Amino acid sequence: METNLQRIRTSIEDISRFNSTPGNGCTRFSYSKEDRMAKEYVIDQCLRLGLSVKVDAVGNIRARLEGTEPNQPAIFVGSHIDTVRHGGNFDGVVGVVGAIEAVRTLVENDIRLRCPVEIIIFAEEEGSNCGSTMVGSKAITGKYTVADLHSLKSPSGESCYELAKSFGLNPDQVENHVLESDEVKAMFELHIEQSVVLEREGLPIGIVEAIVGMNTIRIVAEGVPNHAGATPMGMRQDPMAASARLISEIEKIAKCRALPTTVATVGRIDCEPNVPNVIPGRVEFTVDIRDVEGEGIEMATSLIEKHMEDVSREYGLKMWSEPIGTSQSIRLSKAVSGAIEESARELEIPYMRMNSGAVHDAAMLAGMTEVGMIFVPSKNGRSHVPEEFTEYEHIKLGCDILLRAIVKISQM
Ligand code: GLV
Ligand code: MN
Ligand code: MN
Repeated sequence: METNLQRIRTSIEDISRFNSTPGNGCTRFSYSKEDRMAKEYVIDQCLRLGLSVKVDAVGNIRARLEGTEPNQPAIFVGSHIDTVRHGGNFDGVVGVVGAIEAVRTLVENDIRLRCPVEIIIFAEEEGSNCGSTMVGSKAITGKYTVADLHSLKSPSGESCYELAKSFGLNPDQVENHVLESDEVKAMFELHIEQSVVLEREGLPIGIVEAIVGMNTIRIVAEGVPNHAGATPMGMRQDPMAASARLISEIEKIAKCRALPTTVATVGRIDCEPNVPNVIPGRVEFTVDIRDVEGEGIEMATSLIEKHMEDVSREYGLKMWSEPIGTSQSIRLSKAVSGAIEESARELEIPYMRMNSGAVHDAAMLAGMTEVGMIFVPSKNGRSHVPEEFTEYEHIKLGCDILLRAIVKISQM
């Protein structure tokens, strides 16, 4: 029993056409027109397989193939189809297409497992709308309530609640759609690696052992807007200069003062009024701090906040930080990783064990079930950019391992 390379390729290419920035990478935010079209496409594929399909309060799609035994918990398998702005065609999509292809291969071979298999397509994984990642998987695991959906705001001030509501969903029901742990037997996610390790090692498969934890904060600097020519340098309270000082220190903190595994990124900056000849009045930027060791995240966060206080004193202006989203680092399941490893061995596909520096929806389910992840290589280690690419042959190997490992776990 084998998955089908051509079908995998066609599905990924089809989904890549639901894109609001053709020619400039793939942009498909959750709750957008392109997201609706991509969702209709994957739902249609699931319905053709005879699966029962449900969409929950925040837009997670669940498509179920029943098992032969009643009341068994389901094996979940999936990922996401939203993207960052000007991202690629593989992040998330590979795991969604892989999940559908694995189930399709079971169905066309007339194989029914003892337990149900649920394809799950999580909403708003990238946090492209409101800055917090994994909204769908946080909601379905009870980490986000209706109040959280109200308080997550997009740059234009629309809340995640409003976005979901205008998309035709019923976000008030979010707490009624939380998964119970006895509904889930295991969770699999196939994903692109998004780094250079597999390519450098010349290996097609990674088995993930740990996923980083993450803390995203917003830092706001408020100064005094004024004329750029007429205000002497000694008489300014310039939030842009203060932010620049702090941002260069954030890089040093992650590089030299936290743990060797800690990373920190300032990826978004907004400035008011954003005019060349005006000293800004307000600057806001995000800081994304990650580590497989929780201690690294705590160290970096507190060093950044301490340095922010020093900079705000030095520049005589107000600076403060606001939380956006957090997730804990997790170790993946030995049983599921073991099933993935055994499958790779049986199929004679070389692999290595590794950690994930990106966060993934599967991590959110780790508190309630056994979670495993399979990585396939990213060309030149590039991801979240238009150049993102993974060889289709590697994706197929990932799908074959995924399918075999699902069957193994169903027998446990
Ligand atoms: C999601 O892709 C993330 O790791 O930010
Ligand atoms: Mn992803
Ligand atoms: Mn991503």
